Amino acid sequence: MRSFVWHPYTQMNDWKKFDVISKGKGMWLYDSQGNAMMDGVASMWCNVWGHSNRELTNSMIRQSKKLQHSSLFNLTNDKAEELAEKLVKLAPEMYRVFYSDDGSTAMEISAKMALQYWNNIGEKRTRFVSLENGYHGDTIGAMSLGYVPLFFSKFKSTLFPVLRTPTPNKYRIPKGYSFEDYQEFCLEKIEQTFSKNNNIAAFVMESGAQIAGGVVIYPKGFQKKISKMCKKYNVLFILDEIATGFGRLGSIVEYQTQESTPDIVSFGKMLSGGYLPLAATLANKKVYDSFLGEYKDMKHFFHGHTFTGNPLACATALTNISLYKKHNLISKIKRREAQIRSRVEEISNLGLVGDVRHKGMLMGIELVSNKKTKTPISPQKRLPQKVFIEAKKHGIYQRTLGPIVMIVPPLAISEK
Ligand SMILES: Cc1ncc(COP(=O)(O)O)c(C=O)c1O
Repeated sequence: MRSFVWHPYTQMNDWKKFDVISKGKGMWLYDSQGNAMMDGVASMWCNVWGHSNRELTNSMIRQSKKLQHSSLFNLTNDKAEELAEKLVKLAPEMYRVFYSDDGSTAMEISAKMALQYWNNIGEKRTRFVSLENGYHGDTIGAMSLGYVPLFFSKFKSTLFPVLRTPTPNKYRIPKGYSFEDYQEFCLEKIEQTFSKNNNIAAFVMESGAQIAGGVVIYPKGFQKKISKMCKKYNVLFILDEIATGFGRLGSIVEYQTQESTPDIVSFGKMLSGGYLPLAATLANKKVYDSFLGEYKDMKHFFHGHTFTGNPLACATALTNISLYKKHNLISKIKRREAQIRSRVEEISNLGLVGDVRHKGMLMGIELVSNKKTKTPISPQKRLPQKVFIEAKKHGIYQRTLGPIVMIVPPLAISEK
């Protein structure tokens, strides 16, 4: 088949042809010949209930017959309103919801909101601080906030400068530190950065765990301490729950589990069950209030998109959220998490496996070329393509990110 599609993060020369997926049912994707592959990456970490879920598709059909799209410029729609109210009730301390279409854009919005907040209150604060190896998306601002060298080095000269502090990855602690000491070191670096710079607008991090930058699950209390430090130094605290919220780590709102409180937080991916592009950036009252004033003050938020608050996506998200309770999804995830945990030792003992990290419905298996020296596998080995091909032989759609095999199934996957 001749194709005009350019695929993401793909050396097109290496792929003479792609499997054409023509149907999805439950946890399975079917190609045009009818071969089944289990969706082992939840269609890029967003699928909750599997494919063609009747409750979700029915809700999409119902809404598309009523209103598919209408703008939030000068107007509103009932589904955008209902969903915003639901989100504000779910997310402690949050006050208003700004919609967008994908995670990267939601993070651009977080950054712009923070910058304009300081501008609105008349303080000159323009710098961001974030964790090393954080990932917040692929647009210019999101790439600046989170910087994964393997993905973004080509664009480095164009990205805006961000101050970065180390992430406590238990598997890769510098020599001479215990894990506890290293956590303290990471926190001290943040505190030093805050106390030395009086122009910091916000600290940005993924909530609960870094995923794309290497599946690093934060130690208990780490996020909580950063949250407190942000309050102490009057720095806005921006959380990215795009990949970790809505159940991936076992909580609908991960920052609640982490006992932390953001000023701005973004959700995406699983928000619509993974059925339609939708993201939301929530702000607390302090942030929102700074945007209020007389028109001539020019304090209103200078941001907007064509599909902001799309009623079809919002209706789907509302149905998706209602299903969490109806099907007791969070307790199901806890059971699945235990099942995943029971396999960790076995996987850790495999030849190339350096480390296995997991929480909730997320597992990262870090492959190394030497277990003793922890030498990373070179990107030249083209691991992602090899893992994809090998997993396919077992009927599974699987991907790696750099040297990490990602186990990120749809959240409602069964024990079997
Ligand atoms: C933590 C995090 N933030 C932001 C994004 C970007 O989301 P999107 O791919 O929808 O732009 C991702 C995507 O994987 C992510 O994992």
